[in-house]
Amino acid sequence: MRDFYYLFLILTLCCCFAAAYGQVSDEQDHESLLAFHASVSSSSDSLNWTSASSCCLWEGITCDGEGKVSRLWLPSRALKGNITLSLGRLSHLSQLNLSHNSLSGSLSNGLFGSLDSLEIIDLSFNLLSGTLASSMSSSGSFPATIRIIDISSNQFHGVIQSSFFSMASNLTSFNASNNYFTGPIPQSICASYSLLRTLDFSSNNFNGQLINGGLGACSELQVFRAGFNSLSGSLPDDIYSVKALREISVPANGLSGAIGDGIVGLTNITVIELFSNNFSGTIPHDIGKLSNLEHLLLHINNLSGSIPPSLMNCTQLVKLILRVNSMEGEVSKLDFSKLLRLQTLDLGNNFFTGNLPETLYSCKSLTAIRVADNNLSGEISTKLCALPSLSFLSLSNNTFSNVTMALRNLAGCKNLNTLTLSKNFYDETLPGNESFIGPEELQMVQILALGGCNFVGQVPAWIANLKALEVLDLSSNKITGSIPGWMGNLSSLFYLDLSSNLLSGEFPLQLTRLPAIRSQKFADKLYRSYLELPVFVAANNASWQQYNQLASLPPAIYLQNNSLHGNIPSEIGQFQNLYVLDLSHNEFSGIIPVQISNLTNLEMLHLYQNNLTGEIPESLTNLHFLSKFNVSFNNLQGEIPTGGQFDTFLESSFEGNPGLCGRILNRSCSNQPATTNRSTDDSEGLNKKVFGISFGVYFCFSGISMALALKICPIR
Ligand SMILES: *[C@@H]1O[C@H](CO)[C@@H](O)[C@H](O)[C@H]1NC(C)=O
Ligand SMILES: *[C@@H]1O[C@H](CO)[C@@H](O)[C@H](O)[C@H]1NC(C)=O
Ligand SMILES: *[C@@H]1O[C@H](CO)[C@@H](O)[C@H](O)[C@H]1NC(C)=O
Ligand SMILES: *[C@@H]1O[C@H](CO)[C@@H](O)[C@H](O)[C@H]1NC(C)=O
Ligand SMILES: *[C@@H]1O[C@H](CO)[C@@H](O)[C@H](O)[C@H]1NC(C)=O
Ligand SMILES: *[C@@H]1O[C@H](CO)[C@@H](O)[C@H](O)[C@H]1NC(C)=O
Ligand SMILES: *[C@@H]1O[C@H](CO)[C@@H](O)[C@H](O)[C@H]1NC(C)=O
Ligand SMILES: *[C@@H]1O[C@H](CO)[C@@H](O)[C@H](O)[C@H]1NC(C)=O
Ligand SMILES: *[C@@H]1O[C@H](CO)[C@@H](O)[C@H](O)[C@H]1NC(C)=O
Ligand SMILES: *[C@@H]1O[C@H](CO)[C@@H](O)[C@H](O)[C@H]1NC(C)=O
Ligand SMILES: *[C@@H]1O[C@H](CO)[C@@H](O)[C@H](O)[C@H]1NC(C)=O
Ligand SMILES: *[C@@H]1O[C@H](CO)[C@@H](O)[C@H](O)[C@H]1NC(C)=O
Repeated sequence: MRDFYYLFLILTLCCCFAAAYGQVSDEQDHESLLAFHASVSSSSDSLNWTSASSCCLWEGITCDGEGKVSRLWLPSRALKGNITLSLGRLSHLSQLNLSHNSLSGSLSNGLFGSLDSLEIIDLSFNLLSGTLASSMSSSGSFPATIRIIDISSNQFHGVIQSSFFSMASNLTSFNASNNYFTGPIPQSICASYSLLRTLDFSSNNFNGQLINGGLGACSELQVFRAGFNSLSGSLPDDIYSVKALREISVPANGLSGAIGDGIVGLTNITVIELFSNNFSGTIPHDIGKLSNLEHLLLHINNLSGSIPPSLMNCTQLVKLILRVNSMEGEVSKLDFSKLLRLQTLDLGNNFFTGNLPETLYSCKSLTAIRVADNNLSGEISTKLCALPSLSFLSLSNNTFSNVTMALRNLAGCKNLNTLTLSKNFYDETLPGNESFIGPEELQMVQILALGGCNFVGQVPAWIANLKALEVLDLSSNKITGSIPGWMGNLSSLFYLDLSSNLLSGEFPLQLTRLPAIRSQKFADKLYRSYLELPVFVAANNASWQQYNQLASLPPAIYLQNNSLHGNIPSEIGQFQNLYVLDLSHNEFSGIIPVQISNLTNLEMLHLYQNNLTGEIPESLTNLHFLSKFNVSFNNLQGEIPTGGQFDTFLESSFEGNPGLCGRILNRSCSNQPATTNRSTDDSEGLNKKVFGISFGVYFCFSGISMALALKICPIR
């Protein structure tokens, strides 16, 4: 009896205490939360959800005046587990935010059926899967009260039915991006209500028409995103009646047809992203009416015609990207002088003519200019370096002339980090004096490309002054002389292409000092600025590869197609971080140094068409990433090693070596003399060490290691 009295007292006190804070929690909600708690766990510090206290006092919980839970707000709490149906019993819940956790499994059946006060649901950035259909209420719709739905960045699949929205007349924002949804975009999402402001369907597997009519009813719509899907058809005409639009973003689909003239009526628009589709026709003549336009991204389409002069009236323009279209016209006629906010200009891969207009140099915000792969001509203006922030300049594959003047005029660009001038200046002489570019000039340049110009002269001595240089391309010129030893002092250089020149002399020992090729640790520490625009690389006549960051470019030495002679130095074994070595089509002699087996990252080794002798070192079979190997047309002898990647190479990798034998050449080794220059003690030690290293690497990557092709390694 006394116990009962005390219990009564305590309960009363508790109630008073809780009531003082307006926090008498509802028993059913309390139980529902405990059930929810039982199905999730936090991998960081745990929630203070104990049955002793009122649930209204728990972390992340807010109750209404009746002690019912109205808000469950636990973003970024490292929650794991399932969202159980018990949540559905929180009958007054209006705001649910469980974003940025690790919740998994599917939403329980009918979850939305009982949450009929729900206004905000944010489940973004979890691992939720399954379809949405089963979680709907019996009417098949989100609750009538719903205003904001964010289920983005999960693993949901299935179709989003129009009927899900049949009651959701207060919906303002729906974000389904970054899932695996399929089927059409819900066509009648705008049909019965007009409050929607944000729709995001991007990065799913939606297909069919973009939205086949009906978008016009979303008169408040400001942001429409549906990029990175498989949508087809054209932009629906009624999109141009949605005057509130600020952003249309539908890149990377199969959309086609013209960009309607109606778009110029969307005067509030700031972002138009239509890239990577199949749009055709011209840019609307009156695009200049879009006075708020900041981003116009139309690259990789079929657009034709010229740049409408009125575009130069879009004074807010920050990014203009028209790369890879079929546009033409004289860029020199455009007056850029009003585009004071312009940062990025990419007109690459079109048929533009003329020279860069002088007015461009009044766009003081410019950081990146690409006009590569056009028909531009003329000389490079002295005013380019009046652009104080210019860091990316790509003029490749045009017919610019006077490289001496170009380099002199660019030498003053303090912030330039990418400079590609390849395929211009045909048959000119590359200035070579060390003082031509002084030790104070071009100190930020990380990428310098001067390939394919048929330059005559020697490797320019001024390159030694470019302390930040990481990538150097002088390929396909007529450069003579030898490879200068000072190149080994370029402390950040990890990509060197001197192929297809007239270089002679030996492989300079000093080159093996290159620290960024010797040590990955060193290379990882290099300063690698963000590239404002991608660079395109087609080394070795391979297909063009796009690199958005410098760190993805594989460390490489291309010296093929020259007249280099002498031995391949054994010191090459110190290039621990090298992925590509091409010495083919030279006059190298001597043996393949066994130390090459030390290069455990090597993916490509081309030594063909030289005068190499001796055997193929057996230990090369320990190079587990080697996917391209060619030693054809040398004087190699003995048995072709087997095992490892060697089981994947074809006969063509070995042909033209009369002394080689082995199954792959259908040439038995039984008649061959016993080999003499087998491994010394020293190289056996090396083999073991190498095996240890590569074994480790092999296991880290096992699934992909065998087929790992040179160009698809995504992260470096
Ligand atoms: C639980 O933690 C929150 C803060 O994280 C605090 O405000 C609240 O008072 C705690 N509740 C209980 C019952 O300990
Ligand atoms: C959910 O919480 C996160 C983190 O605080 C916040 O960024 C997000 O805006 C919230 N969601 C909604 C719909 O308010
Ligand atoms: C709960 O989550 C686990 C993964 O954590 C999942 O395997 C399971 O299917 C989920 N249960 C339900 C009912 O969704
Ligand atoms: C929709 O919003 C309005 C204004 O906030 C509100 O009065 C109305 O009750 C809401 N409708 C529903 C079904 O919740
Ligand atoms: C939708 O959510 C994603 C994250 O999942 C976010 O990046 C994106 O900006 C959101 N869309 C809109 C229109 O806010
Ligand atoms: C355009 O933006 C302005 C300023 O934000 C706003 O007042 C106006 O209502 C918008 N126009 C339309 C048609 O939504
Ligand atoms: C792109 O559109 C053109 C017509 O403008 C058509 O001939 C071509 O097949 C389309 N390409 C693709 C990939 O759909
Ligand atoms: C640019 O704007 C000015 C003033 O608003 C106007 O007079 C001119 O015609 C416009 N230019 C073009 C090419 O549309
Ligand atoms: C040079 O640019 C033209 C387009 O003007 C393009 O067709 C051609 O393929 C480009 N050449 C190289 C080597 O990129
Ligand atoms: C390049 O320009 C400089 C300076 O105008 C001039 O002296 C030189 O003759 C030009 N060279 C060529 C190859 O046109
Ligand atoms: C092999 O690589 C190691 C670094 O892992 C290096 O220290 C050593 O000098 C290399 N050996 C040869 C023979 O190049
Ligand atoms: C290749 O080397 C042999 C001797 O090893 C020499 O006789 C021959 O001239 C060399 N051939 C070439 C093309 O350098």
